[in-house]
Amino acid sequence: MDVHEALYTTRMMRRLHPDPIPLEIQARILDAAIRAPNGGNTQRWHFLAVDDPATKAELAAIYRSSRAREYADIAAGELAQPLHDPQAHAKTMRRITTSGDYFTDHFAETPLLLFVFAIDDHGGANIYPAIWSALLAARAEGVGGTITTVLRYEAERVMRLLEVPTEAGWRMTAMLALGYPRGRWGVAANRRPVQEVSSRNRWGQDFGVTVPFPLWPGESSG
Ligand SMILES: Cc1cc2nc3c(=O)[nH]c(=O)nc-3n(C[C@H](O)[C@H](O)[C@H](O)COP(=O)(O)O)c2cc1C
Repeated sequence: MDVHEALYTTRMMRRLHPDPIPLEIQARILDAAIRAPNGGNTQRWHFLAVDDPATKAELAAIYRSSRAREYADIAAGELAQPLHDPQAHAKTMRRITTSGDYFTDHFAETPLLLFVFAIDDHGGANIYPAIWSALLAARAEGVGGTITTVLRYEAERVMRLLEVPTEAGWRMTAMLALGYPRGRWGVAANRRPVQEVSSRNRWGQDFGVTVPFPLWPGESSG
């Protein structure tokens, strides 16, 4: 697959078929992920694949209650707000909520839950290259999914269930829900353009280039 196609179309897919992801494909995804850069090449990461139905069912209940707590925080205005265009963001949030509801209701049918653990992940910097590489590698295999961090609300419960050696410093960074998507891949177009989120030499100075539409696959996408 063309690298730009992967970069532009790796959307978060929450509606997944229950069909399993073959082990050799899981191997290809993780073998690509572990090529990612990481500070000092210390590789303080661990990827825990969960496909056992009983464990997924237990995690589904934890996901549901964690999400309820996140939505309570959102309602209380306690989570990060968009910097611009609250109306457009409200529309996006409605879409995320609808697909998030679907995902929550079908959580236990997700073929693969890939938990990513790290020791001292530098606020995520040390682990997100590998996480994103995993998703891009998955995309190349036709596998989609979603990065999730909402389980942080009940991280201790999750780590106890998965028998994570927390005394050694392991912490949960994210959980990737992976499977074959029901929907179609498309360009993430609901993003503010480059010139609105970039500047040159000094904060707020003109970046120097205007990008009126996504540059892949070309003008036709505008
Ligand atoms: C750090 C991080 C945490 C996220 N946590 C969740 C989550 O817990 N649940 C979920 O459904 N989506 C989660 N997402 C997915 C975002 O909601 C998603 O990227 C956003 O809706 C934009 O979707 P798009 O990339 O398909 O355009 C997370 C994404 C990131 C980068």
